[in-house]
Amino acid sequence: MSPTTFGVIGLGRMAQALLFPWLDSGLVASAAVRAAVASEASAQRIRAHRADLQVATDAAAAWSSPVVLLAVKPQQLEAVAAAAPTPLAGETPLLLSVLAGVRLARLQSLFPAWKVVRAVPNTPCLVRAGLTGLAWGDGLSTDQKVWIQELFSQVGEVLELPEAQLDAFLALTSSGPAFVALVADALADGAVAAGLPRQQAHRLAHRTLAGTAALLQEQDLHPAELRDMVSSPGGTTIAGIRVLERSGLRSALIEAVVAAAERSRELG
Ligand SMILES: NC(=O)c1ccc[n+]([C@@H]2O[C@H](COP(=O)([O-])OP(=O)(O)OC[C@H]3O[C@@H](n4cnc5c(N)ncnc54)[C@H](OP(=O)(O)O)[C@@H]3O)[C@@H](O)[C@H]2O)c1
Repeated sequence: MSPTTFGVIGLGRMAQALLFPWLDSGLVASAAVRAAVASEASAQRIRAHRADLQVATDAAAAWSSPVVLLAVKPQQLEAVAAAAPTPLAGETPLLLSVLAGVRLARLQSLFPAWKVVRAVPNTPCLVRAGLTGLAWGDGLSTDQKVWIQELFSQVGEVLELPEAQLDAFLALTSSGPAFVALVADALADGAVAAGLPRQQAHRLAHRTLAGTAALLQEQDLHPAELRDMVSSPGGTTIAGIRVLERSGLRSALIEAVVAAAERSRELG
């Protein structure tokens, strides 16, 4: 499935992180892109970086495409939807929304003549190490679903989920990077307190997190197995783990993910 034109409404950070790999992979042709942004300054900035793209502040060309990526801020949605033209009679274009917390039912009521898809990509998509949860609206063909999965797999792993699970998915995968960044920062602070130079402490903390994640994944280890591998009797690691358990780290992280999921439900 290769649409004649590919509309983008809002070509900001997230849309660029998705679209540029799609162009590189050939799944979307740059000549087919009809992108719209709000300001001429943004349009010029993008054109300076990617002269092959049609970027305008007038969204008409983007909206007339058979497939449109919607990537404005959620608070801009009402105004954007009010200004969107109704598709021609008999046409049912496809709307891919990445707007955090905006449910399929709301998208479908704002865009009744469209087929809608809700995608929840996370920030590591920026470095093609992302996770994207997809929930389908009504009426998509198998070809369309396969093509959309292929698009998002350019920037990481893709999961199809019932929409009811997207709040929990978002809490772990989209808020999770902030929680992990906090852990990375604190680990580096600990290393500085123990005597390492600041810059080196941060680099080593990031490498430790990345290496640990790779080990867990590649050897398919349960986290407790890895903890046991590293904790020798009477050793350094178990001394640190005692402190973490006493401080309630595990419970704090559990509650953080639950709070993020509850907030996502409220916002939706
Ligand atoms: N960033 C992430 O990691 C991430 C992750 C998952 C989901 N998301 C979702 O992605 C969406 C975009 O986030 P972002 O971080 O990419 O925001 P952003 O960088 O601010 O991009 C928003 C884009 O929308 C454009 N825009 C605003 N009003 C418009 C209008 N009326 N017509 C056409 N374009 C318009 C802006 O143009 P100007 O530059 O001219 O204002 C800009 O290009 C959000 O809904 C967010 O929930 C983001």
